[in-house]
Amino acid sequence: MISEAKLVSLAREYGTPLFVYDGALMVERYRDLFRFIPSEALRVHYALKANYNPALLTLLRDAGAGIDAVSPGEVALALALGFEKERIIYTANNMTDAEFDRVMQSGVTVNIGSLSRLKKCAVSHPGSRICLRFNPDVCDGDNAMTMTGGDLTKFGILLDDADEAARIAASGNLHIIGLHEHTGSGLQHAESVLKSMDNLMAIATPERFGELEFLDFGGGFKVPYREDEARIDYVGMGRQITAKFDAFCEKYGKKLLMRFEPGKYLAAECGTLVIEVNTIKHNRSRTIAGCNSGFPQLIRPVLYGAYHKITNLTNPDGKPALYDVCGNICETGDRFAEQRELPEIREYDLLAIGNAGAYCYSMGSVYNLRPMPAEVVVCGDDVIDFRPAESEAELVARVLRK
Ligand code: LLP
Repeated sequence: MISEAKLVSLAREYGTPLFVYDGALMVERYRDLFRFIPSEALRVHYALKANYNPALLTLLRDAGAGIDAVSPGEVALALALGFEKERIIYTANNMTDAEFDRVMQSGVTVNIGSLSRLKKCAVSHPGSRICLRFNPDVCDGDNAMTMTGGDLTKFGILLDDADEAARIAASGNLHIIGLHEHTGSGLQHAESVLKSMDNLMAIATPERFGELEFLDFGGGFKVPYREDEARIDYVGMGRQITAKFDAFCEKYGKKLLMRFEPGKYLAAECGTLVIEVNTIKHNRSRTIAGCNSGFPQLIRPVLYGAYHKITNLTNPDGKPALYDVCGNICETGDRFAEQRELPEIREYDLLAIGNAGAYCYSMGSVYNLRPMPAEVVVCGDDVIDFRPAESEAELVARVLRK
């Protein structure tokens, strides 16, 4: 974990707003999973959508991780960074024929999540090796927008259609080498993971899908965001996952690989967004701490009502008071926190927004034409990578296509 003193010195050196990532912690989180799930069959494919910082990806590549990619752009980035095609799975939804063809040609395993796409694949790419994504029929996640199983989701083939999927695959002599499910992001209950595994395993019979090489149970491992939130007992859960998978392989009659695709678990806690307060203002009942960043740079509080811990780095012992911590964007909803108790915030104080490693920079935009912040990656005492922010001139040139 990067100390508060180090965050301050990095902010002084590189300026703010600044995303600071702890690369060593990310690798540790990757290794955690192998400790939790003590199975030789385990393969971890990092969900690149959570954070595509190249230095972090390189660390994960060297640690042995695979990649879960969801667009041709993500596939291209992973290949460019040296992830072998065998280590990449492509799980897009609602893909165009052109996208599909392009990724099939790259040799990456494509994960198909609809009967419609499967039918087209049977005609256009007969004989190919593919994975099928099913809807696990389990509903869980940290908010409604990131639950991907159950009746209200657009993802995956229904479990009830497993026979139909097998029949379509056979019509194009497709080799179904993997089955996949992803239940949601920030799964609240260990039982959801186990139940989703059960549901996928129930359709993975040798009669129906006799050429399987792996089962992929998606991502969703949760990390605490609130100070008082407990960590899930992943050691206990991992033991159950391992036992369940071993029993399945025994029954299936072959040792398959067991894949997971975490994004948040690897990336969330590694990142901090350091911002500076430039304006303190009192609006009758509210004290507003106005900062030099905004929701385009960290959208989770506005989009999902997500809670991110905020620390006053430069006045930690100040008298506590309630603040609306606001950004610099022209919308009232542009708040990182509302009525949050924090040590007195003064103009020019530096604030650290925690758990900013997953789905923050990667969901960023240049709304209001403010460039995304610089990023710095730290491993132990060393800065191993610095990616400066785009300058305003570069941003304008990009808009003008110059
Ligand atoms: N696999 C698939 C097929 C996925 O769709 C996702 C996430 C993952 C794996 C990784 O899930 P994770 O381990 O990160 O929970 N923007 C939202 C999260 C969206 C997740 C989308 N899919 C957020 O900030 O909470």
